[in-house]
Amino acid sequence: TSPASAAAATDNGKVQRLTVFGAGLMGAGIAQIGAQNGLKVILSDVTDKALENGLNIITKSLSRVAKKQSPDDVEGFTSQILKNIETTTDAGKAVQDADLVVEAIIESLKVKRDLFGFLDTKAKESCIFATNTSSLSVKEIAEACGQERQDKFAGLHFFNPVPAMKLVEIIRTPQTSTETYEALREVTLRMGKAPVTCNDTPGFIVNRLLVPYLLEAIRMVERGDATPEDIDTAMELGAGYPMGPFKLLDFVGLDTTSYISQGWRDKAAEGAISEHLVQPISLLDKLVKEGKLGRKSGQGFYEVSGESTSNHH
Ligand code: 3HC
Repeated sequence: TSPASAAAATDNGKVQRLTVFGAGLMGAGIAQIGAQNGLKVILSDVTDKALENGLNIITKSLSRVAKKQSPDDVEGFTSQILKNIETTTDAGKAVQDADLVVEAIIESLKVKRDLFGFLDTKAKESCIFATNTSSLSVKEIAEACGQERQDKFAGLHFFNPVPAMKLVEIIRTPQTSTETYEALREVTLRMGKAPVTCNDTPGFIVNRLLVPYLLEAIRMVERGDATPEDIDTAMELGAGYPMGPFKLLDFVGLDTTSYISQGWRDKAAEGAISEHLVQPISLLDKLVKEGKLGRKSGQGFYEVSGESTSNHH
């Protein structure tokens, strides 16, 4: 049986139908691993162009997976998995049969709240809502939904590139039920991921440690202590990180890093994180202002030309 018919044939209270909102890099990756592991997936975004772009990301990534798992039939492998993914720009229709919604749209509290508020009126009562936010409060997003949804709302935070990174952070708000939490653990395991659990705190586990480290690396360069190349080499060869902080900054996006840091400055005022960790950095602000955002804009700390990188900050 194909993964699709296997999913439709069994329904023992487990998540079978996944709807992903946002067809960017994260949403496409989440839809892909769902489809690869037998879930029936609907991918939704606001324009057909965004959906087309998402399907392109998935197709490219699947052909990478296929080259390892099914080298003799890359196209057959890819098209079989793509059969598990439908796309639509109709958010209400996308969510009507879903067991689980994962939202991976723009990192804006207002836009996320508007979406979830709407979905709350369209989804099944039993549907679990999860946000892939990396920097916002899950509880503040959840509050856009009615009281009956609060125990079925959680954070489900994936990492870039989703098909390659094993980790998922499951974020419980004070109202997330144990049943919801267990269902999310079960489905993330089925998606081939390793779940960890964290309270609804700024940055959860990974970004709480990673972002201050990235910011401190930029401060080192700003102070003239060392070059980005030497800092990258040091952390790769001296600490065993797969990418040094400047390669990672370019990979994650300088705008994203700056945005997270800004958001946390408000949280610092509430005492949720130490203020000195997220002090503004002029070098970061300057690069973002110049549109040097990293890989996505072709230049960040490094100039991107294919696989090779050269320093140009
Ligand atoms: N689709 C499918 N498979 C992929 C893939 C993709 N898009 N990207 C990589 N892979 C697979 C490769 O096929 C390969 O698989 P294999 O080991 O089975 O052969 C494996 O991943 C490793 O890839 P490569 O050999 O091409 O390259 P590297 O060994 O250099 O690894 C990397 C690439 C996985 C990106 C590695 O450099 C890495 O781990 N970097 C750090 C990434 C990181 O820290 N991400 C988190 C960022 S923070 C974040 O996302 C949070 C957000 O909220 C800000």
